Amino acid sequence: MDKLLITGGHPLNGVVRIGGAKNSALKLMAASLLADGRTVLENVPRIADCSTMVEVLEHLGAAVRWDDGTVDIDTSGVHSQEAPYELVQRMRASIIVLGPLLARYGRATVAMPGGCNIGSRKIDLHTRGLERMGVTFEHEHGYLKATGQLRGAVVSLDFPSVGATENLMMAAVGARGTTVIENAAREPEIADLADFLSEMGARIEGAGTTTIEVEGVDSFSPVRHRVIPDRVESGTFAIAVCAAGGDVLLRDARSDHLDLPLSKLGEAGAELHDEPDGIRIRMEGRPRAVDFVTLPFPGFPTDLQPQMMAMLSVARGTSIATENVFESRFMFVDELNRMGADIRTEGHHAVIRGVERLSGAPVRALDIRAGAAMAIAALAAEGVTEIADVYHVDRGYQDFEAKLSALGAEVRREQERSPAYT
Ligand code: EPZ
Repeated sequence: MDKLLITGGHPLNGVVRIGGAKNSALKLMAASLLADGRTVLENVPRIADCSTMVEVLEHLGAAVRWDDGTVDIDTSGVHSQEAPYELVQRMRASIIVLGPLLARYGRATVAMPGGCNIGSRKIDLHTRGLERMGVTFEHEHGYLKATGQLRGAVVSLDFPSVGATENLMMAAVGARGTTVIENAAREPEIADLADFLSEMGARIEGAGTTTIEVEGVDSFSPVRHRVIPDRVESGTFAIAVCAAGGDVLLRDARSDHLDLPLSKLGEAGAELHDEPDGIRIRMEGRPRAVDFVTLPFPGFPTDLQPQMMAMLSVARGTSIATENVFESRFMFVDELNRMGADIRTEGHHAVIRGVERLSGAPVRALDIRAGAAMAIAALAAEGVTEIADVYHVDRGYQDFEAKLSALGAEVRREQERSPAYT
């Protein structure tokens, strides 16, 4: 397993190209199962999670070709409707094939995902919604077996879950009658999925608002579609500039997907400009403390919470962060404190007392975003930080260290020695 070695103290300058959104690409790849034939997706990031989704599709019988950022999925050979444990435990988003498989074949079997490093992550909202649409579930040996003829229903979500909204929307497009999803998630990735499904022939209204109405149709055509830019990658680099200082153009980033995070970075002292080809961010000196609260979109994204905490750990003043989306998304705080941060957590609140300087230390990446947070802390720290378990970062960020190096950071990747030989 690899680790990243980052020597802090270098500002970031230049241009970084923001890739396609992981959390959109994964769902669009799954949605390709609705149509018979070749779907082509452009701007798919070359990251481990997208490779896992390719494996899921191949396991089901699809033929997948991936050249640069373009993924070509031929579903004409699909013969299985089962997402196996080996793939679901590697990436829980694999369960997103449930909706499209049910819509197309009337049955699907997915391994039950276990817990993960950010919380228990139940899937009750997915299953309860699908039950209202006529699906029956059986639990067997760690697998969830779903069968049933889908019919339209009114489904009101207790919480605007991204995955449940997507699974229900993909089931509803092939159901008999009209489905209304109330208290739906409003993330830009939901709107991208709805656009893609509509291009395929689905009839969807209201995606991007709290009420989505779907009228089921009989068949779908494969299409070509370009994935929206990754707002979390954009936000990660913007926060990195805020922590390390510098002047960077985030090429292809969309500010309309990042209203709240960008306004928080403005409060922290960054200068931000919308340019024709992206967002430019400039920062001089130490950031100022800012409070923030994570909430479903358009609130502050939980996927930028760890990075923001890393930046605020070197701010002038004390900040308060509140995490409302995942129950255990502060686990990385102990790693930041190992670098000299002064963060105390109490339930879902964190008090971050800004210190003048962090000091490089060996730390671990606990999940994708916590890994990015460690890198941001390392950029602002004195000396060398060694980030272990960097495979988490590789799940979500394409060419992470190459992009940071091109901006002037001192980063290198090293093969981790097996503990048995140390
Ligand atoms: C998506 O996860 C993203 N993943 C996550 O990105 C992101 O953090 C999250 O949305 C929130 O924005 C993908 O898109 C692949 P949720 P998802 O269902 O869909 C609870 C990253 O780093 N809940 O909106 O799984 C759940 O436990 C990742 O890129 C239930 O209780 O998120 C959580 O507390 C990590 N029952 C909250 O809702 C359910 O049935 C939000 O989860 C479903 C969810």
